[in-house]
Amino acid sequence: MWKGRFSQDNTSLVEQFGESISYDWRLFPHDIAGSVAHARALLNSGILNEEEFSSIEKGLRDIKAEIKEGKFVFKTSLEDIHMNIEAELTKRIGAAGGKLHTARSRNDQVATDTRLYCRTQIDEISAAIHSLQKTLVAKAEQYAVSVMPGYTHLQRGQPVTIGHHLLAYVEMLQRDKGRLNDCRRRLNVSPLGSGALAGSTINLDREAIAIELGFDSVTRNSMDAIADRDYIAELLFNISMCGVHLSRLSEDLILWCSSEFGFVVLSDAHTTGSSLMPQKKNPDVCELTRGKTGRLVGNLMNLLVAMKGLPLTYNRDLQEDKPPLFDSIDTILMVLAVNTEMIAAMEMREDRCLAAASDPMLLATDLADALVKSGVPFRRAHEIVGKAVAESVKSGVPLNALDLTVIDPAYTDCMKSVFSLETALAARTNPGAPSAVNVIREIERWRTSL
Ligand code: ARG
Repeated sequence: MWKGRFSQDNTSLVEQFGESISYDWRLFPHDIAGSVAHARALLNSGILNEEEFSSIEKGLRDIKAEIKEGKFVFKTSLEDIHMNIEAELTKRIGAAGGKLHTARSRNDQVATDTRLYCRTQIDEISAAIHSLQKTLVAKAEQYAVSVMPGYTHLQRGQPVTIGHHLLAYVEMLQRDKGRLNDCRRRLNVSPLGSGALAGSTINLDREAIAIELGFDSVTRNSMDAIADRDYIAELLFNISMCGVHLSRLSEDLILWCSSEFGFVVLSDAHTTGSSLMPQKKNPDVCELTRGKTGRLVGNLMNLLVAMKGLPLTYNRDLQEDKPPLFDSIDTILMVLAVNTEMIAAMEMREDRCLAAASDPMLLATDLADALVKSGVPFRRAHEIVGKAVAESVKSGVPLNALDLTVIDPAYTDCMKSVFSLETALAARTNPGAPSAVNVIREIERWRTSL
């Protein structure tokens, strides 16, 4: 592609070192769509005639079909997907193929391809998140009003319902989709026509190219357009954040399926045994989800570190954007799919959850609230109840069995009625709180919006 200036071929080591075709081949549908749109612009500029355009378009369509069928032979010597396709096209159709790269550089070509690729993948990831949300909502519905303890510091805090806990993850995933959508909107701008860095002396209808490729507009600065990889960094962050959410869900499930908690039973199809200990049933899917999240975060760091010292505009370092991008996309799609399957099949142990939530200590806050309702300032109520808790811990008498009226005159006997999980949950009616009415309403809301 640049034989004019050079008198020596690259050594085989340089070729191996510099190639990206082994991974960027997957940009082919986008590379071809970009080339067809560019060729049409060249036709309208008078650089190509109708016949040349048609042979380019047909040639590219044939190549695309062959790549799809796995029949196309990629050459490392041609470095990347852009040169592999262009060289093959020229081999097939002759001189017209040699005109395709007019007013274009691999720099604006790769920027176009990766934007189109990210756009498609965002849609796929969003759809996968959507499926997981639906699965979580179905589980939440199954256990909408089943009581379980809610934790802070991994210490039992206050009662919630299983439905409420599961819907927390649906909220997180909704934000993940929102972020992906923002990223999609920002990246959907056409860099094609930016050339190597300074556009071209040949007039191109950049708007028409953008419309053909489904972009919303064209980039406004050719140098930024070539150097920009923000959209990949954003996408890698969005994927990492989604991974972090699923990693936290994994951690909950790992705890819940331990004998100590015993809140959930994961299906045999989604757990593994031990080669040594016959009794083991391990939550490997959850652990791998947690482990792979490290990779997702690493991929984001990888790109940010690669970019931080780069002068404008293109530098070959930017070729290193693709391995982390592809890895994060493959990883998150797999993580989403396997977690969706696992969650659909899991069974909550409502009896164990209820038993764990039945410790009257979980209603100590409700007792303080009862004092507040009788006019005691909250700080003092907190202290009074704290004394009762200390007495319960010391004497071994459960909090709800103590004679509270001897502990502090502020207590009245009717305050004992707070020690009912049902009453406690029913009272939590403020928006966002886990009363049965609220949880069921939230499930309805998700059902409609998803
Ligand atoms: N394979 C290259 C990449 O992924 C394509 C752009 C090459 N441009 C260049 N001037 N060498 O970044």
